[in-house]
Amino acid sequence: GTTLGASAAEKGRYFGTAVAANKLSDSTYVNILNREFDMVTAENEMKMDATEPSQGQFSYGNADRIVNQARNQGKRVRGHALAWHSQQPGWMQNMSGSALRQAMLNHVTQVATYYRGKIYAWDVVNEAFADGSSGGRRDSNLQRTGNDWIEAAFRAARAADPGAKLCYNDYNTDNWSHAKTQGVYRMVQDFKSRGVPIDCVGFQAHFNSGNPVPSNYHTTLQNFAALGVDVQITELDIEGSGSTQAQQYQGVVQACLAVARCTGITVWGIRDTDSWRASGTPLLFDGSGNKKAAYTSVLNALNAG
Ligand code: G3I
Repeated sequence: GTTLGASAAEKGRYFGTAVAANKLSDSTYVNILNREFDMVTAENEMKMDATEPSQGQFSYGNADRIVNQARNQGKRVRGHALAWHSQQPGWMQNMSGSALRQAMLNHVTQVATYYRGKIYAWDVVNEAFADGSSGGRRDSNLQRTGNDWIEAAFRAARAADPGAKLCYNDYNTDNWSHAKTQGVYRMVQDFKSRGVPIDCVGFQAHFNSGNPVPSNYHTTLQNFAALGVDVQITELDIEGSGSTQAQQYQGVVQACLAVARCTGITVWGIRDTDSWRASGTPLLFDGSGNKKAAYTSVLNALNAG
């Protein structure tokens, strides 16, 4: 293939990007989007604060712009994210107990129902595990409603959109030896053993010098896949530049291609200037939309073998 999406498709995978609604009027941006990618994630527009700014009043304008643009171009959509401790609307931030549990479940049900049939995979729950060495849950208002809040969210999402794959999504879960990775692994193992509806695990894959692409990445992806879930690289970006960065991107693509149930890769933005990172050059296109060395290494890795 000559584009990321076409080359990934030849390997039975997708290649996606995060999209921001306010950039859909930027023709350089849209040209690259339409040419290279076959999966789209809304960078912010499907989050809880965007879709339910007032309790019980749902707002889908910006999310719909992204979903419709993608689907009109024959692309699929990953939904991000139904339940998260961050990016909660103001009204939810200070809620607790059963009122919060009910509000969270209603949000999951309403949003997943609204998009029923249009979403390839939902990040049902995002970033619920703690950083550091505990391997346990992150403290949050949602966690304080009871340890079963995650499975309750997955059950609500399944009921609302039975056709969407349901994912748990987190960051710094790439290195197999990290406690956080092990904690998520044990939760997925538990969910599978008890029939909680989970279909996939998303690895955000935000890499930098403090959190480099691990040499055991393939092991991590393979071990999760062996639990009976798909694995997806959902928010890939890698700090750095030149051949070092290109090599790290290559390693991520190779790790995914080596695991049958690694169904696709999404980068978290198109050009370096589109990145959420305040500085740096973590993506595949430079600020002018030119292909970087990292782009070429990804394309070659997708086309290899
Ligand atoms: O839209 C407003 C604008 O009106 C306002 O003037 C401006 C001033 O701060 O803020 C704008 O909103 C910002 C928004 O991005 C759009 O640019 C928010 O402040 C800012 O917090 C928000 O950051 C997003 C971040 O998630 C929030 O948690 C990033 O764009 C987005 O890339 C990032 O994505 C997350 C994933 O969802 C989860 N995994 C980590 C990843 C990177 O942090």
